[in-house]
Amino acid sequence: MSETRTAAPQFHGSDLEKVAEYYGIRKEDIIGFAANVNPLGLSEHLKEELAKNLDCLSSYPDRDYCGLRQAIGSYTGADWHNIMVGNGSTELISLTIQFFRPKDAVVLGPSYSEYERELSLSGSEIRFYNLKESDDFRISTEDLKEFLTDDPQAAGAGGQGYRRLLVLCNPNNPTSSAVSAAQMEELLVFCRSQRIFVMSDETYAEFAPDTENITAIPLTEKFDNLIVLRGVSKFFAAPGLRLGYAVTGNEELKAEFTSKKNPWTVNSLAETAGKIMFADTDYINETRRLISTERERICAGLDGIANLKYYPPYANFILVHITDGEKNAQDLFEAAIRRGMMVRNCSSFHNLDGNYFRFCFMRTEDNDRLLDCIRSVFGEKDLSPR
Ligand SMILES: Cc1ncc(COP(=O)(O)O)c(C=O)c1O
Repeated sequence: MSETRTAAPQFHGSDLEKVAEYYGIRKEDIIGFAANVNPLGLSEHLKEELAKNLDCLSSYPDRDYCGLRQAIGSYTGADWHNIMVGNGSTELISLTIQFFRPKDAVVLGPSYSEYERELSLSGSEIRFYNLKESDDFRISTEDLKEFLTDDPQAAGAGGQGYRRLLVLCNPNNPTSSAVSAAQMEELLVFCRSQRIFVMSDETYAEFAPDTENITAIPLTEKFDNLIVLRGVSKFFAAPGLRLGYAVTGNEELKAEFTSKKNPWTVNSLAETAGKIMFADTDYINETRRLISTERERICAGLDGIANLKYYPPYANFILVHITDGEKNAQDLFEAAIRRGMMVRNCSSFHNLDGNYFRFCFMRTEDNDRLLDCIRSVFGEKDLSPR
C-alpha cells in the first residue's frame, strides 16, 4: 500500500500550480471545477477588440474612469455617479473595511474567507452568523435580525457612527444560496434602524437564474447603509484583468474612496476591456444559457447518486454534502484530480467539515466526466421499488 504519504494539503480554487506540482500533473491538463470561473473563457469579441486597442497601454487611464463607470451604469442600471471601480472586488472589499474599521463585524458561516482576513487586519471582532444546514444554508431574515439585535451595547462606533458591519455574499460562496431583493430590503430597513452598514458581495449574482430578483443594486438608491460589490473575474472569465466595481449611494463613502484610493489601480487595458465586456450581450446571453442548462442537468445527475445531498444552487457552483458512507470530500478530491479535474474540498470553511465539497459548472462534456467520477466514488442511488 502506498499510504505512507502525509495528509494532502487543502487547496483553494486558484491553487492550480500547487496542485499540479503536488500531484505531478501539468497545470494545463487540470479542469478547474474549483475556480468558479465561466467555462466559456474570454469572449472572442473581447480578444479581437482588445488586440486592436493595445496602444491604450501607452497612456494613463482616465483618473475618474468616467467612460468605464458609464459602461457599468448601462450594464447594471445604476447611476454611474454611484459607481466606483477597483483592482478586482478584492481592492473594494479592502477599502470598504478599512473605511469602517468596524469594532464588530458579522460574517456568514460559511462564506468567502477574504472578508475574515481583511477584517482581522483592521482589528475587528468577527462574529459568525452560522447558516443552518436544515434551512439549506439560506438566511432566515427573522433569525438574522435577532442575531444582530442581541448585545446592543457590545459594539463601538465604526466609520460614520455605524455600530456594525454586516458582510453578505449573494449568492453565497460556497453554499450557492441567495437572498432575494425583497428580503434584502427588509434587512436594510432593520439595519438602518440599528446603525448597521451592509456590504453585499455580488460576485456571482449574474449567474443566478433571476439576477433581477436577487441583486441589491437598485436598493443603493434608497438605502445609504449599503454597498454592493461585483467584478469581472468570474462571470466574464477574466480574473487576471483585476477589474471590480462597487455601487453605493453613501456620499461619505464615495468621497472617502475618491480621496484615499491610490490613483490608476485599474490599468488602461482593464479600463478598455471593461467598456467592451459590459456591452458584449452575445457573450452575456450565451453564458447565462449555458449555466442555466448545466445547473439543471447537474442537479438531475446528482439526484441519481447515492449518499449525497445538494443545496439549491443560484450561482454557477453547487455545494454537496456527503451524508453517509465511507468516503469523504478528500476521497473525491483525490479521485477527481487523478482524472485531471479539481473540485473544492470544503473542510476549511467555517461551519462545514470534510463531508462537503463544491464544484462549478463547466462545459457539458466536462461536467459529464465529473458526474461519472462522483458516481464512481459514491455509487448509484438504488431506485428500485422495495
Ligand atoms: C465571493 C467572492 N468575492 C470576491 C472574490 C474575488 O474577486 P476579484 O477577483 O474580483 O477580486 C472571490 C474569488 O473567489 C469570491 O469568491
